Amino acid sequence: EQTGKSGYDHYMLKEINEQPLSLRQCTRGRVDELAGTVGDEGLDGLDRPDRVQFVACGTSYHAALYGASLLRAAGVQADAYLASEYAMTPCPVTSETLVVGVTQSGETADTLSALRIADDRGARTLAMTNVVGSSAARECDRTFLLRAGPEIGVAATKTFSTQLVGLAVLAEHLADAEGADPDLVTALRDLPDLAQQVLDESRAAEVAEEFDGMDAYFFIGRGLHYPVALEGALKFKEITYEHAEGFAAGELKHGPLALVTGRTPVFAVVAGDGALARKTLANVKEVEARDAPVVVVSDGSQEVAGYADRVLEIPESHPATVPILANLQFQLLAYHVADRLGRPIDKPRNLAKSVTVE
Ligand code: G6P
Repeated sequence: EQTGKSGYDHYMLKEINEQPLSLRQCTRGRVDELAGTVGDEGLDGLDRPDRVQFVACGTSYHAALYGASLLRAAGVQADAYLASEYAMTPCPVTSETLVVGVTQSGETADTLSALRIADDRGARTLAMTNVVGSSAARECDRTFLLRAGPEIGVAATKTFSTQLVGLAVLAEHLADAEGADPDLVTALRDLPDLAQQVLDESRAAEVAEEFDGMDAYFFIGRGLHYPVALEGALKFKEITYEHAEGFAAGELKHGPLALVTGRTPVFAVVAGDGALARKTLANVKEVEARDAPVVVVSDGSQEVAGYADRVLEIPESHPATVPILANLQFQLLAYHVADRLGRPIDKPRNLAKSVTVE
């Protein structure tokens, strides 16, 4: 088994470190720098739908939230649904609705069920999956393959990063037939190297050492960083068994702030030089004023040192790729805390890699 782990103690750490390669495989042939376009065979001829509905579970749902945000920013009506809830009260669809199942395994029962309902009602369907020939790939009208490589650890890592890339490609494809945002094309080309830089230089292990044994761990972000906050908390709770929650930064004051103490570290993503980052920074100040230990994932564009006990640095990047880099820090943080606690990281209790019952 050690051979399969290539010398790493856990598949999860191996898969975290494989992300530059996974990202390279995922972007290969899809990012054409000369033509300034991004695309995929599976999307060829896909006209802009009236609306897009994403259905997904767990980590893939967080990717779906990111995808829906990107599409709305591109002027496409889009929403993300938990697949199990979509199936309870299916949304109205027409033949101009595209329902996208985001599912690394392509076998999650809740997601397949939601896709089947959408198909029965006449929607067009697309599977975004890592597994060739999976049920989702076979049953949907179209397939976008993630090409992340096999993922063994129960906690999804490299498949999540490639899902975000796939969704950025989908958003560009639907946004503008003329060509892609040239900055995004460059960012996707550079992403594997930037991911490598984050992995090489991360201080997440030190942060894990400093903040273990706390009462609870909160993760906050805004806009495209909100799904990263949710994913950071999910990864953390899945493998450490510690209580962790992700919140939209702006929602803190509507409830969660009551939980914040000196024993609840808050992990925030503050990146970019716009209003989004400044508003999140204001939320960071609110928790800091209530004695919470603060760790900021920062790309250096805001002055965070005065408010953060620790900073996890990421390089500056396009707004659509920053979430991928920020999330790498949270993956490593969860891994190192779980490792210090001696948890069975690759097979957390009560969880399965793929859940084939509803
Ligand atoms: C399980 C796994 C999660 C995963 C979810 C959805 O709950 O433990 O890590 O995110 O299923 O899986 P999918 O294969 O549909 O992405």
